[in-house]
Amino acid sequence: MPSLEVQIGSLRLKNPVMAAAGTFGFGQEYREFFDISALGAICAKTVTLRARTGNPPPRLWETPCGLLNSIGLENPGIETFLKEELPKMRKLGTVIVASIWGEEPGDYGALAAAVDKADVEAIELNVSCPNVPGKGFVGAQAGFTADVVRSARAATTKPLWVKLAPEGEVLAAALAAQEAGAQALCIANTFRAMAIDISTGRPVFANVLAGLSGPAIKPLALRWVYELFPRVEVPLIASGGITTWQDAVEFIMAGARAVQVGTGNFVDPLCTLTMVEGLKKFLEERNLECWEVIRGCAHRR
Ligand SMILES: Cc1cc2nc3c(=O)[nH]c(=O)nc-3n(C[C@H](O)[C@H](O)[C@H](O)COP(=O)(O)O)c2cc1C
Repeated sequence: MPSLEVQIGSLRLKNPVMAAAGTFGFGQEYREFFDISALGAICAKTVTLRARTGNPPPRLWETPCGLLNSIGLENPGIETFLKEELPKMRKLGTVIVASIWGEEPGDYGALAAAVDKADVEAIELNVSCPNVPGKGFVGAQAGFTADVVRSARAATTKPLWVKLAPEGEVLAAALAAQEAGAQALCIANTFRAMAIDISTGRPVFANVLAGLSGPAIKPLALRWVYELFPRVEVPLIASGGITTWQDAVEFIMAGARAVQVGTGNFVDPLCTLTMVEGLKKFLEERNLECWEVIRGCAHRR
């Protein structure tokens, strides 16, 4: 029997398929569709120190093979997450990853300290949300990323993952995160993009720019996994347009240790489950014992 298991730093997952932050809520809506314990992990919606109402509508806009979103990190705040959502999430029977975002590095420390006492297996530091107004998001920033990871590292002993932006100082931010103590890097969040409503002649979104996700960005995200794999030591978690088991295999062949599924959940709520089954069959049919045999094989000459 092949093993679907993957090791992400100190954490072992039963398979490499996770739900991506912000696209799976706190898991409750998807509970009605399938047994979520089949997944390797769920990343919870990103939470902040205080509740946020998010951006004004419209917040979603479909594009060819993609989705633009400008949610703006609507969330109930860390306290409500820990008190009300986490206990329900725990019953889903899989690994739970908390995701946190702050305006300043110190906010990440405060959030990590709060999560440190909670029953989650890891913390993902979201330093890559393009939809938070007035913060002058410019993509990955090595200095800021290092400060964020250091602040969180000092506040918790839990594994820290860092979710990077796909633009800006991507490699430098990846190396800075690793140096500061990240156990894994998630590459990547959405790409900044926009749409114009031709009936009004104005940008669709109040913030003009929004985050592009879905199959449209898959080759772009794949490029980042491929480029980072030989340059970093910590495991890479791929995110960007992954909707099928074949997509997941492609990312593993580029070097990913695990994958996160976001927009795919909106198109087919069962797609992560189908992905796990497809990956199992893939290993079985090829008599592969584990992922190590093919991880990064696209780099071999
Ligand atoms: C509606 C929506 C909300 C999102 N919210 C978050 C979030 O709260 N935190 C986060 O780190 N990423 C968030 N993301 C980014 C996704 O987790 C994922 O990294 C990105 O969409 C690329 O993957 P995909 O193409 O599979 O969707 C969000 C994406 C979408 C579409």
